[in-house]
Amino acid sequence: MTLNQLLKAAWGGLTLIIAMAGEATALDGKAIFAEKCASCHNVTGPAPTTLQGVLQRKAPDLFYAGSKFKREWLVRWIQSPTPIRPSGVMFLNHLVTKDGKDSINKETVKLCSSKLSAPDAEAVADYLTTLKDSKMRVGVVDRGKKFSTSRAVQLFTKQYPCIGCHTVKIRNKEAGGVSGPPLTDAGDRLNPDWVYARIENPQYWDPKTWMPKIDLSHEKRETLTLFVVSPK
Ligand code: HEC
Ligand code: HEC
Repeated sequence: MTLNQLLKAAWGGLTLIIAMAGEATALDGKAIFAEKCASCHNVTGPAPTTLQGVLQRKAPDLFYAGSKFKREWLVRWIQSPTPIRPSGVMFLNHLVTKDGKDSINKETVKLCSSKLSAPDAEAVADYLTTLKDSKMRVGVVDRGKKFSTSRAVQLFTKQYPCIGCHTVKIRNKEAGGVSGPPLTDAGDRLNPDWVYARIENPQYWDPKTWMPKIDLSHEKRETLTLFVVSPK
């Protein structure tokens, strides 16, 4: 082997090592997720299509996490999760009826067990961000657009039954039902285009969800979306 050939071979090997190192970093988040999170969360889809499947779901589906969440929120939250759903992933599993009155047994509601270090959280958030729904329209909601809060409250509480399942803050007071996630911090957590798409067709995301599909004009759906994601 000539010196030139030797150098070429060594250089080739080095490039290969660099390429592999690059790939290892890119794969990290996926590997961490497979090890620490995939036992509870579904990242491949589809969502359950039977009530049985919904009752057995251990944790929210994350196969469209890249469309749903804001990356900054993910990075923060998966390092130290705070409770989101006061009635658990499926409220029926925690419902107790006593003297004809329904309540939620807080003791059986499970929290997310994620406790990632900051670098692991960045890697997992990068991975989750790649899990996008290819059909969702983006750029539909203009977050900066002005809207009337009183009209939005009217839609949310009177014209449509949203308040029956979701807690929101109205005039600094929290009010609403608990069978759906509270929307008090939805602006930090959720991507407005996804909120719009979720209101437009809840069953597209989760065929057995108990959130009703309501026929709304674009203007009403946009007003509801802006209300949901506006800081409270
Ligand atoms: C033992 C089961 C379990 C494991 C393991 C688990 N989670 Fe969770 N996760 C949950 C539950 C339950 C919730 C719902 C919590 C709530 O609503 O307060 C949740 C919620 C979430 C959410 C918010 C989803 C949404 O739609 O609101 C994210 C993001 C998440 N988990 C990421 C992770 C990551 C990342 C890991 C691994 C490091 C992980 N989880 C491991 C049970 C789990
Ligand atoms: C019968 C109960 C019910 C009604 C009525 C309802 N929802 Fe929902 N909603 C749900 C459930 C259940 C989910 C998803 C549960 C989950 O992710 O754990 C949901 C999810 C959402 C989400 C995503 C929240 C998140 O953190 O993932 C938004 C936003 C939302 N609903 C807005 C609305 C609006 C606006 C209306 C009125 C037009 C409405 N909902 C009416 C039950 C309801």
